Amino acid sequence: MILSIESSCDDSSIAITKIDNFELVYHKKISQELEHSVYGGVVPELAARLHIEALPKILEEVKSYFKSLKAIAVTNEPGLSVTLMEGVTMAKALSISLGLPLILVNHLKGHIYSLFIEKKAILPCTVLLVSGGHTQILEVQDHNNIELIAQTSDDSFGESFDKVAKMLQLQYPGGPIVQEYSLKGDANRFDFPIPLRQSPKIEFSYSGLKNAVRMKILELGELSLQDKYDICASFQKAAVEHIIMKLKKYFKKSAPSTFAIVGGASANLYLRKQIDILLQSVKCNQLLLADLKYCSDNAAMIGRVAIEIYKEDKNI
Ligand code: KG4
Ligand code: ZN
Repeated sequence: MILSIESSCDDSSIAITKIDNFELVYHKKISQELEHSVYGGVVPELAARLHIEALPKILEEVKSYFKSLKAIAVTNEPGLSVTLMEGVTMAKALSISLGLPLILVNHLKGHIYSLFIEKKAILPCTVLLVSGGHTQILEVQDHNNIELIAQTSDDSFGESFDKVAKMLQLQYPGGPIVQEYSLKGDANRFDFPIPLRQSPKIEFSYSGLKNAVRMKILELGELSLQDKYDICASFQKAAVEHIIMKLKKYFKKSAPSTFAIVGGASANLYLRKQIDILLQSVKCNQLLLADLKYCSDNAAMIGRVAIEIYKEDKNI
């Protein structure tokens, strides 16, 4: 078994995964959303302090597995340096005291392999990664061969939901609540600009859209609940349409046979629906999605990548 640790942002999580059949025998995550909600976003130092409390608590529950472990895995990049350090420090201490190899796992690879928790990998695959920190299109052959096709030049898809929620004085994280408000709103009331609509480049940008929402809120002054619903729906429509337009452009060059959406914001049901429609139009009938519980940050996905590394590295 492999013990894996995730602490790249505001979730403290530990998993134990069987190497042979990918079975997830233990998985726990303590989220800090409530604590950061007051500030409308993640406060790195507070997050680090909360990891110091949460990780040892979870570790206490998995001590009985220590004798069955073959390796310790941990997210080492990308993420908030002060929070990554908490997981890495714990992983190093475990690796030394138990005499086990340490496997460093890239967080984004973790999101990709969230598709394959307790499953065999289905690869190659074109992946849309949408999280709080990233918006990318990737061509994935395996965990060692990942080509970056497009990324955002400023803010990310998930972060723009967080910021819009903050502007509307809604809770953090903004994604789920903006999605919920959108259901009651008129998506055609506000004509927010679709980012980079005229640009032939395949890249993303969310700063302009965020600013357009900010200006509209200022213009409206005091907001009714219906105004908030309509802003969320109109914003979500533009944010998703931006992704759809860029994917359409990319598919003209390279139509996918298997497509996947990963990352915390891949839980967005409107995005899933629009991508599903787009894939049908290009005759791609294989859409891979992670279980909703594994879309946001978790240690199970880190453990799943670690198995691939463990199996192929002869030195471990
Ligand atoms: O992958 P993740 O847990 O953390 C990072 O690696 O960044 O993603 C968290 C992000 C947050 O910005 C959150 O607002 C967004 O994912 N998110 C959503 C939804 N659920 C979570 N964004 C849009 N719609 C959702 N339903
Ligand atoms: Zn993440």
